[in-house]
Amino acid sequence: IGRPSRLAAALGALVLVLTGCATGAAHSGGGTTLRLALNQSEDHPSFTALENFGERLGERTGGRWNIDVHPNSNLGSQLETLQLTSDGSVDLAIVSGTQLENLDRDFVVFNLPHVFDSIEHQMEVINDPGIVGDLYSSLEHRNLTVLGGFTQGARSVYSSRGPVTAPADLAGQKIRVQESEVHSDMLDMMGGSATPMSYGEVYTALQSGVLDGAENNEVSYVTQKHYEVAPHFSRTEHLIGLDYLVANTGRLARMPAADRAVFDAEWNATMREFTALWARATEDAIAELRSRGVRFHEVDAAAFREALAPLTERALDEAGASARTLYERARAAAR
Ligand code: GCU
Repeated sequence: IGRPSRLAAALGALVLVLTGCATGAAHSGGGTTLRLALNQSEDHPSFTALENFGERLGERTGGRWNIDVHPNSNLGSQLETLQLTSDGSVDLAIVSGTQLENLDRDFVVFNLPHVFDSIEHQMEVINDPGIVGDLYSSLEHRNLTVLGGFTQGARSVYSSRGPVTAPADLAGQKIRVQESEVHSDMLDMMGGSATPMSYGEVYTALQSGVLDGAENNEVSYVTQKHYEVAPHFSRTEHLIGLDYLVANTGRLARMPAADRAVFDAEWNATMREFTALWARATEDAIAELRSRGVRFHEVDAAAFREALAPLTERALDEAGASARTLYERARAAAR
């Protein structure tokens, strides 16, 4: 094509990008497509569950509402996409609890080690409006509504240097943590040297030796290919992490009530579906990792628990009275 038409095409594309950015959701054929930001790859179960969510939402609203899942941090890191969701240029984002801790200290409670005894306990707590109702609406002054979440399962330490069976093994090791003060403290207390970094940067940092290791679940370890550059996985299982689905509040408010009811019902079904997918994905990840020669190491769990013991009290003291109430309610729901 000649220069003028190429210019016209480029301008057209620019207008599309700009209008898309200004309003977040795209409108086509009478329907609205919500943009959802995800930092996982397409082979992570959250991508599958969210794609299914979008499909059912589209079917049940006759195409009035659809979801476009953008995986692989394509719309930015979680820190960035949370800001974009607040601005309204992205409609929905999956972000780790560690990101929300930076906006409201009460979220710190669910990022602590040993707060959840199991995934079942975690799901019960995060779906109990008597426990999380106020927490989920606490960011609405920033135009962010929390809708619930997906488990991250148990997180453990992995390293390029070798097994980590006790805190002393982490001495001098630079271990990536999420961008969270409490997780930095946690990793230091576990014996290592905490290095906060966004998820998408970890592989290269492990490969180049900027990091010696990181901490995550088996599913992220395999889907992000971190095992290639840090092949010793030590089952510290120091906490059960939590991802949240966060929406732009104004965008949700503009959804007609009947469609919003469908959205909520399908999202609740998605959370249940994810928990089932997660169990299978974890088993599959372990089998794949074993077949690729990854070494799994058992740890001195009591030694790590003891090292971490002062963290909860310290964090709750800093976070204040409402965080402590939240913690007590979450613990009371443990069986
Ligand atoms: C898990 C979690 C992500 C998080 C990541 C991380 O994969 O599901 O939401 O970003 O850990 O360690 O950053």
